[in-house]
Amino acid sequence: MSDKIQEIITKMTLEEKAALCTGANMWTTTPIERLGVPELIMSDGPHGLRRMPDVHAMSQGESMPATCFPTASCTAATWDVELIRQLGEALAEECIALDVDVILGPGANMKRSPLCGRNFEYFSEDPFLAGEMAANYIIGVQSKGVGTSLKHFAVNNQEFQRFSISAEVDERSLREIYLAAFEKAVKQGKPYTVMCSYNKINGTFASQYHHTLTEILKDEWGFEGLVVSDWGAVRDRVAALKGGLDLEMPGPQDHRVKKVVEAVRSGELDEAVLNESVRRILRIVFKAKETPKKGTFNADAHHDLARKISTEGIVLLKNNGVLPLKGQQHIAVIGHAAESAHFQGGGSSHINPTRVAVPFKELKLQAGNAELTYAAGYPTDTAFRQDLIDQAVALATTADAAVLYIALPSYIESEGYDRANMDLTEQQVALIKAVAKVQPNTIVVLNNGSPVTMSPWIDDVAAVLEGYMMGQAGGAAIADVLCGKVNPSGKLAETFPVKLEDTPAYINWPGEAGAVRYGEGLFIGYRYYDTKKVPVQFPFGYGLSYTTFAYSNAKVSSHTFKDVDGVTVSVDVTNTGKMTGKEVVQVYVHDHAANLVRPVKELKGFAKVELKPGETKTVTIPLDFRAFAFYHPEYKQWITETGDFDLLIGASSADIRQTLTVTLESTLNLPCILDMESTIREWMADPRGKTVLGPFLVTMEEESRKAFGSSETGESHGSIGMNIMDMFGDMPVASVLAFVQSNLPKPGEEMAKDFLAAVHSL
Ligand code: BGC
Repeated sequence: MSDKIQEIITKMTLEEKAALCTGANMWTTTPIERLGVPELIMSDGPHGLRRMPDVHAMSQGESMPATCFPTASCTAATWDVELIRQLGEALAEECIALDVDVILGPGANMKRSPLCGRNFEYFSEDPFLAGEMAANYIIGVQSKGVGTSLKHFAVNNQEFQRFSISAEVDERSLREIYLAAFEKAVKQGKPYTVMCSYNKINGTFASQYHHTLTEILKDEWGFEGLVVSDWGAVRDRVAALKGGLDLEMPGPQDHRVKKVVEAVRSGELDEAVLNESVRRILRIVFKAKETPKKGTFNADAHHDLARKISTEGIVLLKNNGVLPLKGQQHIAVIGHAAESAHFQGGGSSHINPTRVAVPFKELKLQAGNAELTYAAGYPTDTAFRQDLIDQAVALATTADAAVLYIALPSYIESEGYDRANMDLTEQQVALIKAVAKVQPNTIVVLNNGSPVTMSPWIDDVAAVLEGYMMGQAGGAAIADVLCGKVNPSGKLAETFPVKLEDTPAYINWPGEAGAVRYGEGLFIGYRYYDTKKVPVQFPFGYGLSYTTFAYSNAKVSSHTFKDVDGVTVSVDVTNTGKMTGKEVVQVYVHDHAANLVRPVKELKGFAKVELKPGETKTVTIPLDFRAFAFYHPEYKQWITETGDFDLLIGASSADIRQTLTVTLESTLNLPCILDMESTIREWMADPRGKTVLGPFLVTMEEESRKAFGSSETGESHGSIGMNIMDMFGDMPVASVLAFVQSNLPKPGEEMAKDFLAAVHSL
């Protein structure tokens, strides 16, 4: 293959090369007929196919019918990587039937704030979970010979000013939080393409950012596919090629193509850079075309799969025992979303579904002989309608239970803009409260893409199901769980805060004057709430079941281990209730001590297990080097430190059932990073620094105590009332020497340079 590609490149004109690097139209690359290079067809993504009937036209009319699977907000809550693979396989079958080479998904951006308009398209606030989900989605799709586009790379965590805003994020948070899910997905899944984001990262457009596209993605992670721009994300085509962006979409963009040709002719752009992008594009075009695109897909089977995934993604947040429903004679079904399912968000991921399960009808099918009555309860917009509340209350009063289907107005959660707040509409809050007042068995079913405020009403109701945006079969999945056909097993892939003001990004959202500062650093989601001890409505990883689980007998393969070997954790989980159910076992790692600040705990492994009543299974979860490492911005690499770690095994981030303490031995031989600005304390923390500076420091300490009149034990703080050595500890060596200059054999700066030369020669 590489020979064939090489041969084509030698035969291509400069104009053809430049044209190949820019799309031919909205959805395809530029074909080169004379050299037998076909076009590559792309379509959105991520949770279904938005295939336009004419991929060569610029129009954005109705797409071809395709299965609308649950959105990432729901699939992530399944914590089931096998199911995500199956989703990927089904998506690929639809791509093959509808003639699509690459599906534009999955999205692996972090949920930095619940307000991001596109959160429903993203998996989690946690990079490990999001990375696992994205990797398995990719593996599923690509196992059938269809490509994926992992997006939006990177640091696209809001819609506000998404085409221009600069996300200002420090390198460590970039690596540990914002890139980590992409890294996992790239390394494990090997996507055909990665899509860059619109925004700037620390002042440079993501489409031109050499650091992320070339240094990290291609060189460090070994990405072999092509980088495609988000649609319209390129500002400077030549700079983008230099940065590592291979394919600009959409096209045609004749003036851009011309600019690339001119840049090569003038010597501004090295033709080797262009050739490399051409090579990457050709490789993916030919690879994708190995799979013939023909046939049909099984719409019934895919609808059933969509239903299965959404039943597993539903999270039971509260249940006083009213669920599963049993023996009710009359159920009041309240809420517009019961008749008109709210199952997807707005924007480029909007699918034209093959069919839609209507929640009310589906409940009726499963509710036995119960009488079901309906009231809309709220309008489709944010208007306040007391009459609708009154009707709902009248119905609920005479019923044995009330099921409220609550969904925000459909346009609120969308690509292109963020939510203004986390609240349900004023009408919906009033409705829930009014119904709950007359009906003790009030059950709230939520369909949203991101957390909503619940504190005003949650104490009033008997049960709450979080359904997320569940795809076209969601209505049936809700009935499955309400009626107990399926035991809920979803767990939250994000924290539900009590109120917006509690969220970590609150004071740095959504940015101003062209930039948004990621001031909370590493501390997004539960990393923040845990560390800051902020109470939450529902913690990360939380979800109830109709049964209960007990954890016992936690073991680790070795209590002392080398970082490169990792360890394996195992725990016995027993179903202690009366119904078959599934539990998501989560392993978090807590570092006892580190040279840099670390979150209290971080998710590093999980597994989902199904258990019959009374059954016990041993769950095994491996932890590798990265489970214990952090990114050190000065060493510019992932490092481990020798020391103790707690392995926290739990049913959620806040419900730790078993703890094991292990000792890690770091095998890293880190280079010495002491420089002229390193402080005395930093010198003394480094064994090599201590050897060089230690003896001199003893003398210097005596001298300075004399000079400043403070005593060694600290009881006398001398002429200026301070412990001088505490101040010196956090000053660079040369600066300290300047204070005691008169006692030194040569200028302090020179002495500091000598120490530095000595330490670097060790
Ligand atoms: C979105 C992408 C999408 C692309 C093509 C962009 O506006 O950000 O996620 O894949 O359009 O529709």
